Amino acid sequence: MPITIPKLFQMKKEGKKIAALTAYDYPFARILDENGVHIILVGDSVGNVIQGNANTLPVTMDEMIYHTKMVSRGVANAMVIGDMPFMSYQTGIETAIFNAGRFLKETGASAVKLEGGAAVSHVIKAITRASIPVQAHIGLTPQSIHQMGGHKVQRDEDRLLNDAKEVEEAGAFSVVLEGIPLDIAAKITEALSIPTIGIGAGPHCDGQILVLHDMMGLNPGHKARFVKAYANLRESASIGISDYIKEVEKGVFPGPEHCYS
Ligand code: KIV
Repeated sequence: MPITIPKLFQMKKEGKKIAALTAYDYPFARILDENGVHIILVGDSVGNVIQGNANTLPVTMDEMIYHTKMVSRGVANAMVIGDMPFMSYQTGIETAIFNAGRFLKETGASAVKLEGGAAVSHVIKAITRASIPVQAHIGLTPQSIHQMGGHKVQRDEDRLLNDAKEVEEAGAFSVVLEGIPLDIAAKITEALSIPTIGIGAGPHCDGQILVLHDMMGLNPGHKARFVKAYANLRESASIGISDYIKEVEKGVFPGPEHCYS
């Protein structure tokens, strides 16, 4: 059954947790969808985990459209959300509506996500009035990395609660809570009627999201405290690739079963 906004609201009401993950391409989107993930976010984290950038700032609208199209092709049921990249919604309402509209018109996504609280509530309002559902994103917002002075946990309770209420009031259908203490996330979740989706925000949110390549063990190096690795695909891929190289070098591959007579 396709996941819709009313379905997400119902899940919150019934206390059923929402499982969300990011994806950037067709094969992973298929695996996520076939396993019943509720939301697939085509995150601008593509800039880090796929493009190898230090942060999400260089990601462009055209790149997001490209990845979101690939993801949508692999999805039958999950809600696909396209992430609005840096400078695609900050420079003016018309540009923001136009870019948000591109996700729905060109990619098969059914909603967009954008970062910011009270400061962008007028943008959220304008986009939702154009019949484009918006997921908000507050707390640690990676597009503000320079303003925040790094990826820092956000602890200003009054500001976070105000941001959450403002984005709900503006019409957001859901809000991502990133990098905030679990007790503040619990208060926000309690205070809002829209579902909260946490990443580094503790267990009391209505749902959770992780970056796929982090939780699949595809990223070597530093792992944030909130990331749990559910698989080690990097190791599995390394084993397969080194076995292939050895077999080619020894002349073991291709065997008779891989040849045409
Ligand atoms: O870009 C992204 O992957 C995100 C999630 C971390 C919520 O914004």
